[in-house]
Amino acid sequence: SQVELDGFAHYMLKEIYEQPETIRNAMRGRLNRDSATAVFGGLNLTAQQLRTIDRIVLTACGTSWHAGLVGEYMLEAFARLPVEVEYASELRYRNPPLSSNTLLFAITQSGETIDTLAAMREVMRKGHPVLSICNVVGSTIARESDGGVYLHAGPEIGVASTKAFTSQCVVLALLALYFGRLHHLSYEAGLRVIDELEALPDQVEQALETNSDIRRIAGKYSRCNNFLYLGRQYNFPAALEGALKLKEISYIHAEGYPAAEMKHGPIALVDENTPSVFVVPRGGVYEKVLANMEEIKARGGPVIAIVNRGDEEAAEIADDVVHVPVVADFLQPIVTSIPLQLLAYHIAVLRGCDVDKPRNLAKSVTVE
Ligand code: G6P
Repeated sequence: SQVELDGFAHYMLKEIYEQPETIRNAMRGRLNRDSATAVFGGLNLTAQQLRTIDRIVLTACGTSWHAGLVGEYMLEAFARLPVEVEYASELRYRNPPLSSNTLLFAITQSGETIDTLAAMREVMRKGHPVLSICNVVGSTIARESDGGVYLHAGPEIGVASTKAFTSQCVVLALLALYFGRLHHLSYEAGLRVIDELEALPDQVEQALETNSDIRRIAGKYSRCNNFLYLGRQYNFPAALEGALKLKEISYIHAEGYPAAEMKHGPIALVDENTPSVFVVPRGGVYEKVLANMEEIKARGGPVIAIVNRGDEEAAEIADDVVHVPVVADFLQPIVTSIPLQLLAYHIAVLRGCDVDKPRNLAKSVTVE
């Protein structure tokens, strides 16, 4: 590859460390304080078309699908629009009823994933506008969609997606702000979102400082063969993504679950060799997640908790804690994903796995 490692042991680690910069690039030139909204150069839909959108469907595969889940929560919160997130591989063979004012977003790092492309073509055939959120400029999905937003994250070489995921979340936040300002979001609230977004790159930089703690924790648990990842609300997709990262590069069985759902099945897996990774920054359901943590501890399961700086309550329950900066709830999955990416990375390295080229996986799946 022509992309240099710049002293990093793997592309994945390099890409994890690029995130303060790639997140900055995803926002560059797209925030407008005068109108307290986001601006995009390539949506290619008329203002009238955009204003009459009354439903949004997000489609994607893999990690991009997890970003879609984050986007769903953001769009619902800011724009009060009904949103659905569909696996592209399912959407392409279904025929869901879509109202005429439904907009589809295809989310894809590569812009070449065959299921995402096929789902998008199917929805376009029915006459709906389709926009893409792509990283690779000029990719098939970028070209075939009516318009879209590029991530500008630079080439992602590691098969396990990291920087593309956080940039997808940022672009979805910008879109949520944009659609919010077309509908219900006040000028003041829009400005607050802009302030929070502008603070994000430095907060991600701080989240990277968890690396040495994470490396120590990875050493402690790298021989476990089952992990649970638990989080609620915005941190539920972060838990899913954390579990996927571990599965992909370390070949450890990991399940992501909404923390409160664990009592409906996964808690049966808990024993002293099955760590649970809780994604539990402060926020709406914080106390409830602490109660979930206690339930795991009571059954002898080790608990690793991703918490906010200064949080002592969670630290009292958990065996190991990692501190991330306090951010607005919609940005939590971005900041909490950083230690989860690092955890998967260090465990995979300790297990001697080929981090950048995991077995059986491809960077981009272009055949069905
Ligand atoms: C493959 C990659 C994943 C990626 C998924 C979707 O499975 O290994 O990292 O999330 O495809 O790829 P896309 O390029 O559409 O985001």
